[in-house]
Amino acid sequence: MSQTPDHPAAAPPRVAARAVQPTLSPLPRIRNIIAVGSGKGGVGKSTTAVNLALALAATGARVGVLDADVYGPSIPTMLGLSGKPDSPDGKSIVPMRAFGIEAMSIGLLVEQDTPMIWRGPMATSALTQLLTQTLWGGDDGLDYLIVDLPPGTGDIQLTLAQKIPVAGAVVVTTPQDVATLDARKALKMFEKVEVAVLGLVENMAQHVCSACGHVEHLFGQGGGERMAAQYGVPLLGSLPLEIAIRAQGDAGVPIVTSAPDSAAAQAYRDVAAQLLVALAARPRAAMPIASSLV
Ligand SMILES: Nc1ncnc2c1ncn2[C@@H]1O[C@H](COP(=O)(O)OP(=O)(O)O)[C@@H](O)[C@H]1O
Ligand SMILES: [Mg+2]
Repeated sequence: MSQTPDHPAAAPPRVAARAVQPTLSPLPRIRNIIAVGSGKGGVGKSTTAVNLALALAATGARVGVLDADVYGPSIPTMLGLSGKPDSPDGKSIVPMRAFGIEAMSIGLLVEQDTPMIWRGPMATSALTQLLTQTLWGGDDGLDYLIVDLPPGTGDIQLTLAQKIPVAGAVVVTTPQDVATLDARKALKMFEKVEVAVLGLVENMAQHVCSACGHVEHLFGQGGGERMAAQYGVPLLGSLPLEIAIRAQGDAGVPIVTSAPDSAAAQAYRDVAAQLLVALAARPRAAMPIASSLV
C-alpha cells in the first residue's frame, strides 16, 4: 500500500521496553494475568478475550476470564453463562465454568438489566474483590487469567491497570481505530502504569464473505502492522470480520469452540501462540510473576 506511518523512524520502541509494574505482588493462584484493553468500546475486545482464552485452553493450559467491564459485562453472554456463582463461605466465590475455562463477571452478581452507575472507586473495589476472592483454578491455580478491561483510558482503567499485577497487556484495535488514534491512547495508558504491552491484535481487519469466501480489506491493509512498528510492539495477528464470529458470540459458544476447524478459529489460535511467544520474551521486573505458585 502507498500509506506510510507518520514518522516511522522517529518513534522509539518505548511501550514494550518498560518493566512490569514493579511494586505489585503476584497473586498466589494465578501464574500470568493478561489484560486485554482497547481505546474504545465495540472494537471486539471481549470477543477477542474469550476466544483467546479458549485458544490458550486448547493448548492444555488452565485458563480463566475475568470480565472487568463493569459498565457492559458481556462475558456471561458470550460464554452462555447464567445464574449466580456459589460462595461456600459467603466470602470467596467459585468461578463458573464454560467450555473448559473459568469465568467471573460482575454481570453474574447483579441482575441483568441493572444499569452500572457506580462511581469509579466502587467499581474498582468490586473488581479487585472479584479478582482476589474468586477461587481461581481450585487447588491447582490458573496458568493464564485473561482480564477483559473496560473500554477506554479513563481513571477506572488506569486504577485497574495499576492494581492488577499483570504480566502484560494486549491492545485490540480495528483498522478505523488505528486511524482515530484510540489504540494509541490505550498504548499510552499501559505505558503510564508501566504495564508491558505484549502486542496488538488487529480485529475486523478483513471481511470474509460468508457466501463465497471472498476476502476484502474494507479499511485498507497494514494499519496494525504500521502501528505495531511505530510503537515497537509485536503485531500478534489480524482477525477477520466475519458474521460467524459475531453470531457464535451472541449464541454463547465462541467460534474457537463452535467451529474449531474454521479459518477464524485458526486465526485466534495463531494469535494465542504469538501471545505466548511475546509473554516469554517480555521485559521482566525484579518481581518473579509466577514464583509463588507451586
Ligand atoms: N472479528 C469479528 N467479526 C465479526 N464480528 C465481531 C468481530 N469481533 C467482534 N465482533 C462483534 O462486534 C461487537 C462488539 O464486540 P465486543 O467483543 O463486544 O467489543 P468490545 O468488548 O470491544 O466492546 C459484538 O457484536 C461482536 O460479536
Ligand atoms: Mg466488551
